[in-house]
Amino acid sequence: MSLKITIAVDGFSSTGKSTVAKQLAKELGYVYVDTGAMYRTVALFALEQHLVDDGVVKTQELIENLENINISFVYNQQLGFSEVYLNAVNVEDKIRGLEVSSYVSKVAAIPQVRQKLVAIQKQMGSSKGIVMDGRDIGTVVFPDAELKLFMTASPETRAQRRYDEMLAKGTTNITFKEVYDNVVERDELDTTRKDSPLVKATDAVEIDNSEMSKEAQFQYILSLVQTKL
Ligand code: DC
Repeated sequence: MSLKITIAVDGFSSTGKSTVAKQLAKELGYVYVDTGAMYRTVALFALEQHLVDDGVVKTQELIENLENINISFVYNQQLGFSEVYLNAVNVEDKIRGLEVSSYVSKVAAIPQVRQKLVAIQKQMGSSKGIVMDGRDIGTVVFPDAELKLFMTASPETRAQRRYDEMLAKGTTNITFKEVYDNVVERDELDTTRKDSPLVKATDAVEIDNSEMSKEAQFQYILSLVQTKL
C-alpha cells in the first residue's frame, strides 16, 4: 500500500485554498475537509438561534449550546465533494452568504468553539490521507503534517474573486466595497485573535497566487507532494 500523508492548507480568506485542496484530494484519492465550513456552520447556528444581538455574539449562551451543534460532512457524488450538514440539514449554501461571513471570525475567536472543532478535525485526520484547509491546520490541528502550504494573495485580488463568485451564484444585493471590507475585516480578526491566530507555520511553503494561474499553482503543489511521497 502506498504511503499516505497529511496535507495542511492554511492562508487568508479567498486565496483559493479550498479549490486547491479539493483538487489535490481528488488527484491523490484523499479525504478533503473544509474547516472554514465548520466555523461557518457554528456561526449559522448562532444566527438561527438568535445568539447574536445587534452585531454582538452572545458568547456565553453559544458556549452553553455547543453540545447541540452536530456538524457532519456528506459526500455529494454529483458535485464530487462533501457538503456540510448542521444537525442533519444541508447548510452548504446558507453558510456562504455575507451574513454568516460577517460573524464567523467572531465565532471562530471563541476558544471553546475552537476546542470542539479542533478535536473533530484531529479525529478526521487520524488515519492520514487527508487534505484539510483552514487557518490553524499546520500550526494547531496537524503540527506534524508532512506537507504544509500557506496561501496568500493581495486583498484586492481576493475580494474580486469572492465578489465574482457571489455574482456567479446569483447574488445581486452586494457591492464590491462590501466584499472588500469584509475581507479586510476578517484578515484583521483572524490574524490578531488570541487563540490560534492565522500565522504561517515555520515549515510551511508560502504561495502568493495573485499573479499565478490555477494550473501553474496546482502543478507546483503536486511537485511538492511528490517530494513527500
Ligand atoms: O475559509 P473560510 O473563509 O470559509 O473561513 C471562515 C472563517 O473561519 C474565517 O474568517 C476564519 C475562520 N477559520 C478559523 O478560524 N480556523 C480555521 N481552521 C478555518 C476557518
